[in-house]
Amino acid sequence: MAKARRQFVCQSCGAQTPRWAGRCDGCGEWNTISEEVAESSGVAGGPAKASSTKKGRQIALVPLAGEATETPRRSTGLKEFDRVLGGGLVPGSAVLVGGDPGIGKSTLLLQAMARLANSGAETVYISGEEAIDQVRMRALRLGLSDAPVALGAETNLRDILATLKDGPTPDAIVIDSVQTMWTDTLESAPGTVSQVRATAQELTRFAKRSGAAMIIVGHITKDGQIAGPKVMEHMVDTVLYFEGERGHHFRILRAVKNRFGPANEIGVFEMAEGGLLEVENPSALFIGERDREASGAAVFAGIEGTRPVLVEIQALVAQSALGTPRRAVIGWDSGRLSMVLAVLEARCGLSIGNQDVYLNVAGGLRIGEPAADLAVAGALISSLSGLSIPPDTVLFGEISLSGSLRPVSQMEARLKEAEKLGFKHAILPKAAGRQKPSAGKMKLTELEDLGDLIAKLSTGGASAPQAREA
Ligand code: TYD
Ligand code: MG
Repeated sequence: MAKARRQFVCQSCGAQTPRWAGRCDGCGEWNTISEEVAESSGVAGGPAKASSTKKGRQIALVPLAGEATETPRRSTGLKEFDRVLGGGLVPGSAVLVGGDPGIGKSTLLLQAMARLANSGAETVYISGEEAIDQVRMRALRLGLSDAPVALGAETNLRDILATLKDGPTPDAIVIDSVQTMWTDTLESAPGTVSQVRATAQELTRFAKRSGAAMIIVGHITKDGQIAGPKVMEHMVDTVLYFEGERGHHFRILRAVKNRFGPANEIGVFEMAEGGLLEVENPSALFIGERDREASGAAVFAGIEGTRPVLVEIQALVAQSALGTPRRAVIGWDSGRLSMVLAVLEARCGLSIGNQDVYLNVAGGLRIGEPAADLAVAGALISSLSGLSIPPDTVLFGEISLSGSLRPVSQMEARLKEAEKLGFKHAILPKAAGRQKPSAGKMKLTELEDLGDLIAKLSTGGASAPQAREA
């Protein structure tokens, strides 16, 4: 029996310290460090000593050029899920699906497993959170009861692996969730960093060895009480996050890491009575609900992963009653908002310092692109001035600290999507030295400076621009 070793582990980031501390040096979180007892060898330990003293085996080194076979994939039957995976589930790969509790991870995976099973694949769904009856009730509600999915309710990893190894290897396995699983080689409680890490390691190893696609569910919480999936991100091949605002019915599945496809790809779903529905044209959905005449709204032509997505950005600028005005942002980076506000003040002479600013990206989408700068600025200016941006106009472009506008990537794809959805006019940065994007029937207004946008909006808005025809 290996000797037990005491260690203190941050439950938020996984950093280890020999001593307890109130604040983690690794991530700066408070009250996240707790004591864990780890075996010095076993599942979580490194390789046994004996093997490290043995002489190494020669490995074959090959040239970069050579035969490369296309990764085989299996469609999950959910197109949006396949897209995020890079074309389907890869046999032998481990996929982490992270997200807030209650966002719809179990629903999504049960639907995917049912479709896979209906297409003839061997699928196993292990629930550590819900009893068999609960999962059956959900399947009934989703109309999936007839799908031949093998269902299990268990939390003991050893038993689960023994079951999976017995008989033919399944094509796809769902473990829901990693926080409920525990391995008896460790003394610490389920959900602690060492248990999560050990469980993920074992499951990933099983996937690699058996050729089954392993989908692991992981909850993320902000208070750090349950080990976040962050500690296992480097072990798995693909990391997907299921996001969305609780109050909204849109859900976005986003690839943040993918060894078998493009990262940052998104899949869009709608949570409905009968489960998750795929949304094939997210732009139509995100801009479909908008109030056409309101001031403080601008439509941003963005790119998410490999596809263009149009989304409405809403701003409200109002006189503040507080000493320190409020800045509230949903769906965008608050540091980026501060920058745009500072540029509007310093370079364009707008006075926003004593105003409350609220910014919201409609539909619960989270935008990471700096290309949204211009649309954000447009929404802010519109709210501040009361002028509305014509509803047939899209904006995109990055703002630099000097107030000048910089071209962004994939301008033509953005314009094409806007045209497809009936937009007539685009405000974008002037592509200096670059070829002008071809715009079909869209009217382009190319600006060099943020000040030009203010001028454009205040001289009758963008509805009657002296635009250069493309
Ligand atoms: P769930 O898949 O259990 O979330 P997670 O596994 O991420 O914790 O989703 C639970 C939520 O989804 C719950 O609030 C109810 C909602 N829901 C629907 O709106 N429609 C449905 O058909 C189902 C099954 C769930
Ligand atoms: Mg669940």
